Amino acid sequence: MSTHGTTPLIIDCDPGLDDAIALMVALNSSRFAVLGITAVAGNVPLRLTEYNARRLRTLLGRADVPVYAGCPRPLLQTLVTAEEIHGATGLDGAELPEPDGEAASRHAVSFLVDTLSTAPEPVTLACTAPLTNLAVALIQRPEIAAGIREVVIMGGGINRGNITPVAEFNFYADPHAARVVFESGLPITLVPLDVTHQVLVTEDVIARIRAIGNPVSHAAADLLSYYGSTRRPALAGAPLHDPCVIAYLLQRDLFGGFPADVRIETESALTIGQSVVNRRRLPDDRPAVTVLDMVDPVGVFELILAHLGPAGT
Ligand code: RIB
Ligand code: CA
Repeated sequence: MSTHGTTPLIIDCDPGLDDAIALMVALNSSRFAVLGITAVAGNVPLRLTEYNARRLRTLLGRADVPVYAGCPRPLLQTLVTAEEIHGATGLDGAELPEPDGEAASRHAVSFLVDTLSTAPEPVTLACTAPLTNLAVALIQRPEIAAGIREVVIMGGGINRGNITPVAEFNFYADPHAARVVFESGLPITLVPLDVTHQVLVTEDVIARIRAIGNPVSHAAADLLSYYGSTRRPALAGAPLHDPCVIAYLLQRDLFGGFPADVRIETESALTIGQSVVNRRRLPDDRPAVTVLDMVDPVGVFELILAHLGPAGT
C-alpha cells in the first residue's frame, strides 16, 4: 500500500465491453492509484482498444490517468479478434464521448519497463487481455519483476475454454506471451472462466445499474445490454470476466481458490492456449499460481454497483 493507503496499479486491457466495466470500477475506486492503462490488441485491433481506453477515461473524468498503446499483434500468432462479441468498435451499444486527449507517446512496453524498474514501491498489475505487453516487457528487462507486487490475470480455464473447447480467448490469442508470463516466476493470481462463468449479468442487474442514473451507469447498462445480446445462448447472462479481476483486488474474500502449477500449451494445434492446471504437484522452479475457482456473484455485483455511482469508495 502506498503512503496514502492506495494500491499503485497498472491495468493492461483490450476494451472490450467487460474491460470497460473493469475500468469503470477501478478508476472510480479511491483504493487505487492507477499509474496507467496499457492497451493491447485483443478483442479488437490496437487502434480501437487504445481509443476505447481513452474514451472510457474521458467518460470517467480521469484525464489524469495516462493511456499507453502497446503491442498491435501477438508474439507469434496471427491476430485473432472478437468483434462478434464486442461489436465492430469494441464498445458497441453505448454512446461514449470522444477522447479528451491523446495516448501517451511512450509505447506501453516502455512504460511498463520504466515504471516497474523505478517504482518506489511494488506495483500491482491487473491483466484483462492477451499478455503480449507484459511478456515483451519481461523479455526486454526481466528485472522488472522486482517492481511487481502481484499480477492478477483474467484468463484460462481449469476445465473449460470459450474460443476452443479447452482454451480461453486471452491465452488463445497469444499463448506464447501467456507462457512467458507464467514461466516468469511472478506472483500470479488467475481468474479463470470457471470463476467468471459464475458471474453472469442478467437483465435485473442491468436494470439496477441503469437506475443509478448517471452517465457512467447509463453507459455501463447500455454496454452490458449489448454484451448480453451477443453472449453464447448456453449462458444465462453475459459473463463479467474482467471486472472479477478488480473485484478480487478490492474484496478478496468474495473469492476462493487453491495453489497450482499452471502451464500454457503452445505446441499442439488442437489445444494451443490451454491453461493446464495441476493442483496435485506444485512447481519447484517458480511460485505456485493462486487459481481462483469460487466466487460470491452477488457480492461482485454489489461491489460493481457501488462503484458506478459518483466517485466510488
Ligand atoms: O475470455 C474472456 C476474455 O477475453 C476477457 O478479457 C474479454 O475481454 C476478452 O479479452
Ligand atoms: Ca479483456
